[in-house]
Amino acid sequence: MKPGRLKTKIFLDSGDPQETREALRLLRFLDGQTTNPSLISRNPETAGKKFTKAELLEFYKGVVQEISRLIPRGSVSIEVYADKGTSAQDMLKQGREMFSWIPNAHIKFPTTKEGLRAAHQAIQGGIRVNMTLVFSQQQAAAVYAATKGARRGDVFVSPFVGRLDERGENGMSLIENILKMYKTGDGHVEVLTASVRSVNHLLAAIHLRSSIVTCPLRILREWTEKGLETPSDDFAYCAETLKRIPYEEIDLRGDWPAFDISHPLTDIGLEQFSADWKSLYV
Ligand code: E4P
Repeated sequence: MKPGRLKTKIFLDSGDPQETREALRLLRFLDGQTTNPSLISRNPETAGKKFTKAELLEFYKGVVQEISRLIPRGSVSIEVYADKGTSAQDMLKQGREMFSWIPNAHIKFPTTKEGLRAAHQAIQGGIRVNMTLVFSQQQAAAVYAATKGARRGDVFVSPFVGRLDERGENGMSLIENILKMYKTGDGHVEVLTASVRSVNHLLAAIHLRSSIVTCPLRILREWTEKGLETPSDDFAYCAETLKRIPYEEIDLRGDWPAFDISHPLTDIGLEQFSADWKSLYV
């Protein structure tokens, strides 16, 4: 059962419905699930198989429909295919199609110029979005600005803490900075802590009051073994030698194209998602 004092929503980060079942068995609750092209490429049912583009999309649809049936009241994130040449129109077309697959979808667009443009239009059309591959406060500000007018719950922003840690930067400090910046806004964007590598990340996200945190099954298993512990008020996150990311004063009233959204990890992440997806092609 979900601990009573736990306000943060707990998602599973996986492209495998078997893991959804296991997470439900372990936790006895699950608030949602995030998928992405790399996670789908690691679904055991793809092992040794090759797909046409249409077959692969059909496979992805089947996976999210199964997940959606398992957690009908949760949110399920589905990611569009994008590489650096994919236009906003193309992403939007995919997003519309994917949004029709299940009643509880959030569509993941990359936090690039084209991805933001797609999200801006998606929100106007009533499509819920999850902006992915976020590594900077400027990107989070652009997400806020591009989705103004959306209802709370319709927009998630996903900063990737683990990938920042891996290059020596304290990913959790970015979560802290974005939450602080969003306090100056209207609260329409929910922070989804992603790329979680440890129970310590999970506890820190809960302590910071991140709205959502998505974790691989192994972290949820470890957390279960620790009795679904929640951080005490004096919880101190130990980032060891990781360099803190400084807070930037950013005016959220700016127009989204005015923010500096470039980040090398976004480019690398996009390439990796694209390569993993294409590795499944015939
Ligand atoms: C979730 O939405 C993200 O795609 C995921 O957490 C990324 O995690 P990774 O850094 O382990 O690939």
